[in-house]
Amino acid sequence: MPLRGDWLFPTEIRFGAGRIEELGALCLRFGMKRPLIVTDRGLAATTLAERVLTAADVPGVASRFFAGLQENPTGGNVEDGVAAFRAWDADGVIALGGGSGLDGGKTIALLAGCGGSLWRFAWPDHETAQAERARVPIIAIPTTAGTGAEVEPSAIVTDERGPVKRAVLHPGMLPKAVIADPSLTVSMPRGLTAATGMDALSHSLEALCVQSFHPMADAIAASGIAMIGRWLPVAVAEPQNLTARGYMMAAAIMGATAFGKGLGAMHALSHAIGALKGYHHGLTNAVLMPFVLAYNRPAIESAMAELAATLRLEGDPFVAVQGWILDLRRRIEIPATVTALGLARAEFGRVADLAATDICAGMNPVPVDAGSLRSILDAAA
Ligand SMILES: [Fe+2]
Repeated sequence: MPLRGDWLFPTEIRFGAGRIEELGALCLRFGMKRPLIVTDRGLAATTLAERVLTAADVPGVASRFFAGLQENPTGGNVEDGVAAFRAWDADGVIALGGGSGLDGGKTIALLAGCGGSLWRFAWPDHETAQAERARVPIIAIPTTAGTGAEVEPSAIVTDERGPVKRAVLHPGMLPKAVIADPSLTVSMPRGLTAATGMDALSHSLEALCVQSFHPMADAIAASGIAMIGRWLPVAVAEPQNLTARGYMMAAAIMGATAFGKGLGAMHALSHAIGALKGYHHGLTNAVLMPFVLAYNRPAIESAMAELAATLRLEGDPFVAVQGWILDLRRRIEIPATVTALGLARAEFGRVADLAATDICAGMNPVPVDAGSLRSILDAAA
């Protein structure tokens, strides 16, 4: 069965290798005659960026790059992007990249349409601002398979005043359409393939563990986890394998669809570590994963039983799932501890304090505070 399809779930998705060629026609359909292509500095210099620019180049569409995003985009980056949007007299945004390019692009589109300060859209003060109308259409083009930011209406942006990563939320940040073209991910280096794939896994895993009734999210999460177990090691070992890349791109979309249910302490800690140290988000999640699961064990036995059944694991479900995760991590060479990542014990207190204020901390299946988050870091050292 060819890995190709047109889905409306939860937005319009054009899925399949080579579908980047449809970009120009898609721009015209949304009335985007002067789109701003937003991406990060690293990606702008690659042939992949050229391929996207060429695909957008159809009669009636004139596009321009804004490549002023750093990895883990900041509020300042977003303001620069809005200035570029105005200077180009743009009428839409093409958000291109991994989490940084997609979140940066979505946020620039939001602020270009609404004006004012970005932080009124940031949790927990976002409620009133949600009513403002976002007027700038977004087309999202992921170049990694992990974040799933292409199919959800939030973004993580670093507020330099902390520094702290803040969640910006607005329904208008859900892209109008996504081009999910697995051929755009084949040039990802091995380490990035592993880290982004583990981000997708952490989305489904944390969503599955959230203590609320959401059978759609649970089913998608469990199925996405099984897909990652099968295909992530293949994508890492065989970067050009379009079947593995296709399934990983689908699994990333599934993870983000599932995490509408919620996330948890993996993401709370990972956001804090990312804000302070700048480590890759997916890699940090991957390192924290078994330690957060162990902390959550009293509340997630039934979720682990469901997952163990999907993965066809035998024995005690929690122990079996932990073993499955540790084995997957070993095969794709994820570091075993946060100290191996480079985080010093002296930094644990500051990370835990920051993580306790993160939007994801409040959704963890077992309640967390700065003290218990610190205990997870101690276990992960
Ligand atoms: Fe994530």
